[in-house]
Amino acid sequence: MKKTVTALALSIGMLLPFASYAKNNVVVVATGGTIAGAGASSTNSATYTAAKVPVDALLNAVPQIQNLANVTGVQALQIASESITDKELLTIARKVNELVKRPDVNGVVITHGTDTLEETAFFLSLVVHTDKPIVVVGSMRPPSALSADGPLNLYSAVALAAADDAKGKGVFVLMNDDIFAARDVTKTINIHTDAFQSQWGALGSLVEGKTYWFRNIAKRHNNSSEFNIDDIKGDALPLVQIVYGSTNMLPESYLALQKAGVKAIINAGTGNGSVANYIVPTLNQLQQQGIQIIRSSRVPQGFVLRNAEQPDDKYGWVVAHDLNPQKARLLAALALTKTKDAKEIQRMFWEY
Ligand code: DGL
Repeated sequence: MKKTVTALALSIGMLLPFASYAKNNVVVVATGGTIAGAGASSTNSATYTAAKVPVDALLNAVPQIQNLANVTGVQALQIASESITDKELLTIARKVNELVKRPDVNGVVITHGTDTLEETAFFLSLVVHTDKPIVVVGSMRPPSALSADGPLNLYSAVALAAADDAKGKGVFVLMNDDIFAARDVTKTINIHTDAFQSQWGALGSLVEGKTYWFRNIAKRHNNSSEFNIDDIKGDALPLVQIVYGSTNMLPESYLALQKAGVKAIINAGTGNGSVANYIVPTLNQLQQQGIQIIRSSRVPQGFVLRNAEQPDDKYGWVVAHDLNPQKARLLAALALTKTKDAKEIQRMFWEY
């Protein structure tokens, strides 16, 4: 009897170390930004050069991530995110798409500049078909600064990407312990570590490597999206640009975009997407020439109501609903890969 118990104890003991190797595999796709930045001194928390530190150095600076998952890194780009164009956005999306298709990859983290992080995250939620966790993470201070936020943000992002309960919940932005939905998170402060907010609230929180969930998103994303990165050829999306609303606008601002060949204009209007009465004729002229007119708002919260400030049905215009202008630009560009029908484009703005 004693021999049997000893043998059983030994066999379990031999298995235990392998049990710790049953960790998920997470790939970190580095693109640049402040999280990879370098300042002249530790007191330079806001003056630094973004996109300097390579991915291996980022991972080696936080060895604790290897306790969470088997983590490897790839350097997709090394760029300050304000300089991302469609070319770089499509590069990131194609790299993430390639990774999530691999059976040995359980989750993906993208380290990214915070300036346009929300756009990349939203785009990935629209075009990458997977239920594996995709987590976009950045930092507001460079790793060279006192109380840098990047290392803990990266640790938390890896924990989220490795979390089985994060599957199927969409693309996340992880910043400052908050788990945000890619579609409604936005950068609201340009110098503090709690820079990201969503008017609909975070999906949850991640503390000490553990997820705490409080809501799910209500919109189509990833596997339920009608868009797919595999269908997008080349390095450019249909050209869509934004005009920022204010007093004393010029019709010439819109006509210049028409000359540049835009297929849609996102009007970041005042208030509930208002358009100046002396601008309406120009927008109608452009709409009749086939340029989609999409009313968003410069106001960070709320959503643009159809047929309220403007007779959208009469004009054949689209409203961006609660999407901010920079996200509306991306959805409009993807919509234009499918249709030129304003009613169909409006459906897409209701559903994503
Ligand atoms: N140049 C900005 C960017 O790469 C720095 C902001 C940041 O990453 O936090 O987005």
